Amino acid sequence: MTCHLLIPAAGSGKRMGADRNKLLLPLIDKPILQWTLEAAIASEAIAWIGVMAQPHDYPDFQQIFNEISQLKPIRLIQGGATRQASVFNGLKSLPADCDRVLIHDGARCLATPELFDRCDAALQRMQGFIAAVPVKDTIKVVDGLTIVDTPNRDRLWAAQTPQGFHLEALKNAHLKALELGWEVTDDAALLEKVGLAVQIVMGEETNLKVTTQQDLAIAEFILKQRSS
Ligand code: C5P
Repeated sequence: MTCHLLIPAAGSGKRMGADRNKLLLPLIDKPILQWTLEAAIASEAIAWIGVMAQPHDYPDFQQIFNEISQLKPIRLIQGGATRQASVFNGLKSLPADCDRVLIHDGARCLATPELFDRCDAALQRMQGFIAAVPVKDTIKVVDGLTIVDTPNRDRLWAAQTPQGFHLEALKNAHLKALELGWEVTDDAALLEKVGLAVQIVMGEETNLKVTTQQDLAIAEFILKQRSS
């Protein structure tokens, strides 16, 4: 048990149509974030968890932490205006002995403990990786409503989290992004932009990111199937 995990959880409920952080919405019998945390706590690899949050959510988040096992330290870290800024805050708050980090979106509440374990193992042999699954649909690149390209599907993977990195490489990439104003939606994109190799680890088909009400209904269905 040596792995440090950062969980960006400082978003809102805008695309969900909710008036609060979507991670606080109930999924079956507990908040979305609690499912994510319980899977991370159940992973044998994870030793320390940092959760990036907006200060107005601290009391609700603290209540969730109190509900679950205190066997592993969970630290609240102030989030930023974007996911990228939240992750950067998290990187600056890691303990001094940490040299590798896993990052996992709070909204991916169906990731299993086995996926975290697999990602920790990958972090021992790779400088940077993301969990991902091959895409099933044919993907079109469009300009307005006109298709401009149909990439070969054999080369397309859908990015998920966890993503894992050597800390120094990721911190340097974030610093470069700040300097040059790069805005990205995942951390792998920053390493790609500075020219470092990022590899793929097989993710999970069910590891969806809860974004809409429909995702919430699908997540509920999957969790009920798992427990039956
Ligand atoms: O909005 P979306 O679901 O794509 O965000 C991905 C993750 O990043 C979520 O878990 C969300 O809470 C987090 N996030 C964050 N800080 C922000 C915006 C999003 O930690 N300012």
